[in-house]
Amino acid sequence: MAEKNRTWESHSNADRMEQLRRISEEAEAGGGAERREREHKAGKLSARERIELLLDEGTFEELDKFVRHRCVDFGSQEQRPAGDGFVTGFGRIEGRLAYVFAQDFTVFGGSLSESNAQKIVKIMDLAMRNGAPVIGLNDSGGARIQEGVASLAGYAEIFLRNTLASGVIPQISAIMGPCAGGAVYSPAITDFVLMTRDTSYMFVTGPDVIKNVTHEEVTKQELGGAMTHNSTSGVAHFVARDDADCLAMVRELIGFLPSNNLEDPPRRASNDPADRREESLNSIVPEDPLKPYDIKDVIHALVDENYFFEVHEHYARNIVVGFARFDGRPVGIVANQPAFLAGTLDINASVKAARFVRFSDAFNIPLITFEDVPGFLPGTQQEYGGIIRHGAKLLFAFAEATVPKITVITRKAYGGAYCVMASKHIRTDANYAWPTAEIAVMGPEGAVDIVYKRELSNAPEADRAALREEKITEFRNRFANPFVAAERGYIDAVIEPAETRAHIITSLRALENKRDTNPRKKHANIPL
Ligand code: HXC
Repeated sequence: MAEKNRTWESHSNADRMEQLRRISEEAEAGGGAERREREHKAGKLSARERIELLLDEGTFEELDKFVRHRCVDFGSQEQRPAGDGFVTGFGRIEGRLAYVFAQDFTVFGGSLSESNAQKIVKIMDLAMRNGAPVIGLNDSGGARIQEGVASLAGYAEIFLRNTLASGVIPQISAIMGPCAGGAVYSPAITDFVLMTRDTSYMFVTGPDVIKNVTHEEVTKQELGGAMTHNSTSGVAHFVARDDADCLAMVRELIGFLPSNNLEDPPRRASNDPADRREESLNSIVPEDPLKPYDIKDVIHALVDENYFFEVHEHYARNIVVGFARFDGRPVGIVANQPAFLAGTLDINASVKAARFVRFSDAFNIPLITFEDVPGFLPGTQQEYGGIIRHGAKLLFAFAEATVPKITVITRKAYGGAYCVMASKHIRTDANYAWPTAEIAVMGPEGAVDIVYKRELSNAPEADRAALREEKITEFRNRFANPFVAAERGYIDAVIEPAETRAHIITSLRALENKRDTNPRKKHANIPL
């Protein structure tokens, strides 16, 4: 471990080179071989190994390797390693500039000192100035307890920068070890959170504190493991098998994103024909409107090389969001999932999709919406939980988005959910419907039970069921189709499902130079 009081008495060039080598080695040793071995045994890579896997080979330029903490309390002065347990700098991902920081859990549990807060602040400022993403590889017990308010101040400085950078440069947080306190709040402000399956945790307070305060007994994994945050809380967007998988996912994610909000997302050559027909889509929607199908089959069939990079896969599965390419151009996809909760919009689905829509809009990524939604999920749980407020978030997000927007209604588009899911009325550029679309205020059954309530209750008991069926059929024939909306121009074209890819790409090409703005304001007031 580092010497506590260094003097710089050497004068010869050879001595200086030796000093440089020694300090470098010291920084690279982190918390020592024993601690490192423990981490490796637990399946975790070191901060430097992680950065090497993340960046293109040989591109990492380290900054502030020589920074040490300045704390003299609680014996900290006995342990002042060069670098102070944080590795920061910049490099390239597929040739594009990216700033990175990685915490080394072997040094004070990766906790944040005043000094290494300054290291992060430095690379965040550089990233903002140079318009490049920031990737944080988090493995940290939060604020360094020995440093008191100085480390809290460091976190607050980072939170400020996370907030100011939001919507300007992409910010990605990989959680690769136990993370607590500030080490979870900074990621929460960033755009995407990835977690390694068995080695990462996120919590504001750990199991011991919870036991003391609420007497609840909970394991670290249950409280803040990768699946807890991917499927229950929604804090995390991706789960990775291990460190290497996690870093590969970050690289892949970056490949869909522009480096900053003034650039377009990176386009790639695609060998997938723009006019590729997909015959399977002509029969994918079941004849029975109550039967589900998997909207991901539709997405996979349509996008370039059938490749869809799903975001938030395990959370609110009644809506699907993620990135793909059409004609080599990255797009953000939002799709109701009839195979889960019948594709209804509930609180979690609305919040999940709203955040994704806002991210895509901030970074010039066109939005493609696939719609099959019977409405908002009814129930006291939803109403008490504030579905009105949360559902409004998705409406707000789609309405304020100015990127190219294309919607394809595959089946149901009922009620408020019709308006919300990128309808023509909230500035969607191209609205398509399949012949199987049903666009109305509500489903035929619900509509008949309300509109013919009196007639049905006055009808003789024996005739009631037949009368109801007759009215339902009448309603279905009149409204459960795309043509009423198309007659009004709310749907631009009713299309053969097999030709959907060609229509989407033709529209995307036409929208390449789209310009649309919102009224000037300080900022909007989304219903949080
Ligand atoms: C200084 C810390 C530390 C911290 C861990 N260590 N957290 N040192 N400051 N915050 C040190 C330990 O003393 C230990 O040192 C080494 O790191 C490994 O820690 P362990 O506890 O042995 O590891 P593990 O069992 O894996 O548990 C990891 C942990 C736990 C869950 C992160 O250490 C923990 O609960 N730490 C405290 C978390 C916390 O309350 N942080 C402050 C939050 S306040 P040795 O020398 O023994 O190896 C905050 C404010 C921000 O962050 C504001 C938010 C809005």
